[in-house]
Amino acid sequence: MTLTPQIRPVSAADAGRLVELNARCSERAQYFRFHAPKPRLRAVEADYLAGVDGRGGVALVATVIEDGEERIVADARFDLAGDGDAEAALLIRDDFAGRGLGTQLLGHLLELAPGLGVHRLLLDILADNTAMLALARRVGAEPVAFDGRSVLYAVSTVR
Ligand SMILES: CC(C)(COP(=O)(O)OP(=O)(O)OC[C@H]1O[C@@H](n2cnc3c(N)ncnc32)[C@H](O)[C@@H]1OP(=O)(O)O)[C@@H](O)C(=O)NCCC(=O)NCCS
Repeated sequence: MTLTPQIRPVSAADAGRLVELNARCSERAQYFRFHAPKPRLRAVEADYLAGVDGRGGVALVATVIEDGEERIVADARFDLAGDGDAEAALLIRDDFAGRGLGTQLLGHLLELAPGLGVHRLLLDILADNTAMLALARRVGAEPVAFDGRSVLYAVSTVR
């Protein structure tokens, strides 16, 4: 059965679900998200990620009901970085990747960003992350910096 994820803002009660999301992603996906090995999300990290209050940024989750439980299958967020910039990141559970969810979530972030005074979303993408590079280019992001390991892409939120 194909489940259609529901998208909603993250809540403080989601910390455990975010730990589970990370645990159910491949090492490669974890690495692409955090730019470092991240086999387990620590409780303090999960609390931080679940605590976005809408002032310092936006965090959306996509959820499905599995075995009678609500589970998070994707997380997409941006944190304000000053001067009209915000840094965005996404994590889609592997079995939900490649179905358009990343495109949909990034689209929502781009719609919400101007309301928080964000003119530019930044995406720090490891150079071999072909899926995220494709997604960034699809929304019109352009490379603005390269540190030898990752490429910083920027996309204007003013359409
Ligand atoms: C990168 C990621 C967010 C993409 O989300 P997604 O839901 O899988 O992407 P979509 O289905 O919306 O597809 C987006 C683009 O990626 C491409 N893509 C998807 N999976 C791919 C794969 N495994 N290899 C190559 N390209 C892929 C799609 O073809 C599409 O490109 P197009 O617009 O040229 O057709 C998701 O795979 C993920 O969470 N990866 C691990 C964490 C990560 O890389 N986070 C980004 C940190 S900035």
